[in-house]
This record gives sequence, structure tokens and C-alpha cells, in this order.
Amino acid sequence: MKSLNIPSWPQSGAREEELLRSVLHSPQWGGFHPLVGEFERQFAAAHHANHGISAFNGTVTLELALSLLGIGAGDEVIVPAISFISTASAVSRVGATPVFVDIGPTSFNIDPEQIAKAITSRTKAVIPVHFGGTMADMEAINAIADEHGLWIIEDAAHAHGSEWKGKRAGGFGITGSFSFQNGKVMCAGEGGILITNDDDFATRARSFVNVGRKAGESFYSHYRLGTNFRMTAFQAAVLLAQLERLPEQIARRTASVGLLKRLLGDIEEIVWQDEPAAMTQNSRYLMCGRFRSKTVTRDAFHAAVTAAGLPCTPFYPHTLYQNPLYAQEECRVMPCPNSEAYVRDAFWFPHRVLLADEETIQQAAEVVRAAALGQSQETGAELNVRRG
Ligand SMILES: Cc1ncc(COP(=O)(O)O)c(C=O)c1O
Repeated sequence: MKSLNIPSWPQSGAREEELLRSVLHSPQWGGFHPLVGEFERQFAAAHHANHGISAFNGTVTLELALSLLGIGAGDEVIVPAISFISTASAVSRVGATPVFVDIGPTSFNIDPEQIAKAITSRTKAVIPVHFGGTMADMEAINAIADEHGLWIIEDAAHAHGSEWKGKRAGGFGITGSFSFQNGKVMCAGEGGILITNDDDFATRARSFVNVGRKAGESFYSHYRLGTNFRMTAFQAAVLLAQLERLPEQIARRTASVGLLKRLLGDIEEIVWQDEPAAMTQNSRYLMCGRFRSKTVTRDAFHAAVTAAGLPCTPFYPHTLYQNPLYAQEECRVMPCPNSEAYVRDAFWFPHRVLLADEETIQQAAEVVRAAALGQSQETGAELNVRRG
């Protein structure tokens, strides 16, 4: 079979080069270059928010959000049991206790009913993650947070441009945190940003990331205990170019997801992540599914797909609370049967697969079909089939 023409990631073009060169030839390479402020404004506006506060990654932005809300020792913060570690470690880093709750059976996202069950008098906040770009049910989560007086910090690290009934991810709570790490749909190698509509939160965040300075005051006057989380101008230059390309790339990925689902609609072995009707745009960071077959294991499916040249990840090796870290760090774990089952049967395709051309997507669908049915593409013979 012809090898699959899957694009590489990250991608860059003349625009990144032009903006990077402008920084390179300027006397300011750090966070005080005007492109950093320009990126913050453009990214916030693209996410329907009044303020953007950039930082050097999307882990410190979560830690910053929690500490600015005064969350610390004795407090609990509800997080999904399935995410990247930073969603939970940020809670631990500020001295609070992460409370792990289950995700829905096919949503890949925190289950609002399980949030409600986990609330105690110590609960201060909830951090929904929009897994793979598909948003958590923000209406249900907002209602619970309002009823119990909880802060919502959206971990929108996967959800650049995702939209719920016309409203962009990151704007549903006090703040939303994004990552621009190397694999994200907008990337600068590293990078992060908080967006918010709360003027006071924005002022405090901006001061914190800039060693406690106050806008318009002396460079050597520091008004609060802050630190230096500033994004460099090189990151901002790359990200401005990536932001320009985001809409066309979302459209391309969305078309690919539609085509793959159409071509694979009869494959009962795969249950794709839910598509909430309320979502009006999806970043399509990951195309996620659960694999359930009587004859082929998830690992055999993954091995066959990968061997055919289609990039695929066989999900996280454990839930967040099963990480060695949480054998030592304090946490509370609600029953998470779904999360534990995903670890055994879920997988995802990274977004660069979805940037491929239509012909490649059709070939990819054939690869997935053959792997799901336990057939080698070359011979049609059974492959890696589980016996007994
Ligand atoms: C859900 C989630 N939250 C937070 C982060 C942390 O972002 P960063 O790598 O920019 O620190 C990531 C990934 O990298 C992530 O996937």
C-alpha cells in the first residue's frame, strides 16, 4: 500500500518568518515587545474575551489562576480523572486538594452529575477540560457552580476556537487557560494564556506575571508578590501567525472528521467522542474514540493503525489519580469507572492527521477499517487477533 501522506506538525510559513525576523531585528526580544500585547489582544478578541494575559506555558497559567483566586491549603478543587497532569498538579502546587471525578461514558469530558456529587464545604472551584477540543457541558457546569458558589477555571488547552452556542471556550468562568505547547493546534514550542472578562482579575494577573509591577508605574516599583511568567516576543510572533491560520485549519480538520465518520459509520467497534449539539465550532485537536471488539484488542488495533503509517495514541496509560504522583500527594478520588475503562479501550488521532488532504483521509479510513476488523491491509488476513 502507498504510504500515507500525513502532514508534519508544527507548521510554519512566510508569516512566522516575517514576524520572527521583525523581533530578531528589534532591540526587544522579551515580553515588552509590542507584539506580545498585540497577540494578547488578538487572541482574547478571537475568544470573545476582554483580556488576555500571556505566560510561558499553559501549566503556570493554571497555577496562576488558582493562586489569584486565593485557592490554597484546606481547599478542594474538582478536576476530571482524565486529563494531562497539569490540570491536577496545578491544584496541588498551590497547596489545595484535587478531587478527581469521572468523565461521561462517551463524552471524554467531566460528567456534571459527578461534579455535583463531589462538592463539600471545602470545594472552591472546578476545572473542566475540553478534551480534544470538544467542550464539556458548560451550561450544566455553570448551573452547578452558580448554585454552590464555585469558581470555574476552564482548562481550554485543547480548545482554541471551540465554541458553545456561539460563545468561545475560555469565557464561561472567571478565566480560561490555553496552552501553546508544541503539539497544540496553535503552538510556539511553549506558551500559554489566560483570558478573562473580569477587569480586576486581569489587572492582578498582569501584575503577577510581571513581578508585581503596576501598569504605567516605575519599572523598579513592585506592588504585589509576583513572579516573571512573561512570554517572549519570539513566542508571540509565531502565535500571531498561527492565530491567522487557525480558522482555515479548523475548517480543514472539521471536514476530515466529517468524512472519516461517514466512511467509518458502519464500524461498530468504534464509538467516537460525542458531538454536543450545542457546539458551533470545534478546534478538533484530537479525534477520540473508544474501541470495543470481541476479537481485536485496543492495543492490537492501535499497533495495526500505527504500522500502516497512521499516527494514533492509545490513550493515557492511567487516570490522573493512578499516576505515581498521587500515591504521594494528597487527593480525593470519587468513583471513576468510566475513566478507568477509557484507559483500557480509548485512543485518539492527533490533529495533523485531520490536516491531510481528502485522498489521504480516504486511505486513512481504509487503514482504520482494516485494523478494527483485524485484517491486514495487504492480505486481508487476520492480524493480532485476540484468541479465546
Ligand atoms: C489539558 C491540558 N492542560 C494543561 C496542559 C499544560 O500545558 P503546557 O504544556 O503548555 O504547560 C496541557 C498540555 O500540554 C493539557 O493538555
